[in-house]
Amino acid sequence: MAARTGLGDFKWNKRIFELRLERSRRDLFGQLQRLYGDRDDYGAFCTALEKMLRKAWKARPKDLKLLDLKRDLEPDWFQRPDRAGYVFYVDRFAGTIRGVLDKLDYLEDLGVTYVHFMPCLKPRPGDSDGGYSVMDYRAVNPALGSMDDLEEVARNLRERRISLCVDMVLNHTAKEHEWALKAREGDAAYQDYYLMFDDDTAPQQYERTLLEVFPDNAPGNFTFYPDLGKWVWTTFNEHQWDLNWANPWVFLEMAGLMLSLANRGADVLRFDAVAFMWKRLGTRCQSEPEVHMLLHALRAVSRIVAAGVIHLEEAIVGPAEMIPYLGMGEHEGREGNLAYHNSLMVQYWSALAARDTALMTHVLRTHFPPVLPNATYATYIRCHDDIGWAVTDEDAGAVGLDGYRHRAFLSDFYDGSFQGSFARGALFQVNEATGDKRISGTFASLAGLEQALAMGDQRLVDRAVDRILLGHALIASFGGIPLIYMGDELGLLNDYGYLDDRDHAHDSRWVHRPRMDWALADKARADGDGPAARIYEGTREILARRAATDAFHGGFATWVRPPLKKELFVFQRSAPSSPVLCVYNFSEDWTSITEDWAWSEGAHRFHDALSDRPVIAQYGEIALPPYARLWLL
Ligand code: GLC
Repeated sequence: MAARTGLGDFKWNKRIFELRLERSRRDLFGQLQRLYGDRDDYGAFCTALEKMLRKAWKARPKDLKLLDLKRDLEPDWFQRPDRAGYVFYVDRFAGTIRGVLDKLDYLEDLGVTYVHFMPCLKPRPGDSDGGYSVMDYRAVNPALGSMDDLEEVARNLRERRISLCVDMVLNHTAKEHEWALKAREGDAAYQDYYLMFDDDTAPQQYERTLLEVFPDNAPGNFTFYPDLGKWVWTTFNEHQWDLNWANPWVFLEMAGLMLSLANRGADVLRFDAVAFMWKRLGTRCQSEPEVHMLLHALRAVSRIVAAGVIHLEEAIVGPAEMIPYLGMGEHEGREGNLAYHNSLMVQYWSALAARDTALMTHVLRTHFPPVLPNATYATYIRCHDDIGWAVTDEDAGAVGLDGYRHRAFLSDFYDGSFQGSFARGALFQVNEATGDKRISGTFASLAGLEQALAMGDQRLVDRAVDRILLGHALIASFGGIPLIYMGDELGLLNDYGYLDDRDHAHDSRWVHRPRMDWALADKARADGDGPAARIYEGTREILARRAATDAFHGGFATWVRPPLKKELFVFQRSAPSSPVLCVYNFSEDWTSITEDWAWSEGAHRFHDALSDRPVIAQYGEIALPPYARLWLL
């Protein structure tokens, strides 16, 4: 009877919620107690939070609840080698959110099983930092479509087993967000959602130890508003107001918004700029312990209401600071499921310029554990942001380099001013005080394709193509979900047109945010000739071979091996059944490894899992061409 009236469903639903709540109660309230337990309103906050969770659970569609169950039963779903990501601005790739439906065949052909729609919630008008200045988290950018479109596209993606990643900007809102508007009108409760100061005493004290993210166009970390008579904390741009996460009601609001996105069908929530979420006087206000408590608690929120959803944490920080975002100590296995492997990216570019992998090997061996519990990396070579040379003086010193000079060399190399450089990049945010010079540019332009084509030199074109495929093979094999940045599968070059756009001209990151060249894509796929075709085919093959190679499961250890020759980067993926020894040549010269050495490193079959061909040694040596990439079984 009950089942027929639907009452049974209702009871089951309630019961399942209780079980989920019990599973994560300690994770959630244990952390919140530490963050907010001293406040008078803590009890009221907890009650409101539980009520919100119940409501969100009630609203969660049935098919997503089923997906939650499936993923609870297969918790490694995002670590499997068939996961491969593709990152794009919706308008630049497909026009609108619905337009993505027409591109699904393209994505499937490439081997993509995860897409990241760059910020697509309603941004402030004008310059919105590429959408990271959100004025309404409940609406989609009207230029791209509606929430219903997003929901429908998510459903279509799910049918094709493609996961959807959506940005959830946690650290700040646009100053046009309704909370900010109310704060501006003088509403004290909303003023407490942000960090506001009556005079500049405290801001000045904080400034002593804060860094500047955008020193060129948004210097300082605070902005004074005469109408409000207050200083507001604005780490990034003036229009991005930092939220006050020490206020539990901010936690409640953001957790609710996050679940509403999850209930629309997002599989992966990308938490933007998480390092900055907690402020403490006398520090850089980055990666404070409370940040990890907040992220641990947010993870519990998802585990209760939307267990199928995982969290990607964006913390572009030094190597030692990054691993905690994947859960360390008490947060182990309970914080981010994914975090950007910024160091792998930086070290790829560093080794490529230096033709020397000593620093890369040192950094990746020293700071990163071989396995991670319930988490994995998002590996990438290019993304929508600039490249900052996150190389510490200590790490550089450990391999006999001077940190300052090596960072300066990398900037010069990639802006193209270093003699003999193959790269064409643009400087981003030159900081006179620290000497930091960050770099913008597409993968292809930084890897030498733009210059090679301009010179009409086929040999240099070949080298550039190889560098790109080296990078894609590296991120596909290292462990984690490889993220291909839109256009990099075709070798799209820098787009200097951004200089003509009033909202973009001040921000050189737009040089590597080109529009998709569909004519080139069609041509590359049709005739198989030219660099775009070779990069596309090569990338496609890399993703297909990755999917077929069990050892690339994110749960298996990655052992970076000591350098054998300065141009080689080597690591072992140690699957019990068939480990793979990955060997990459970071130079444009031929080199070799000996058969004996490969054997001693666990390669016993001498079969290349990437080309799917046997590997032949001659006189005991395996020859490696320029930029060779070998997945030795
Ligand atoms: C993240 C984004 C970057 C943005 C910043 C501020 O780092 O990746 O593009 O400028 O956050 O939202």
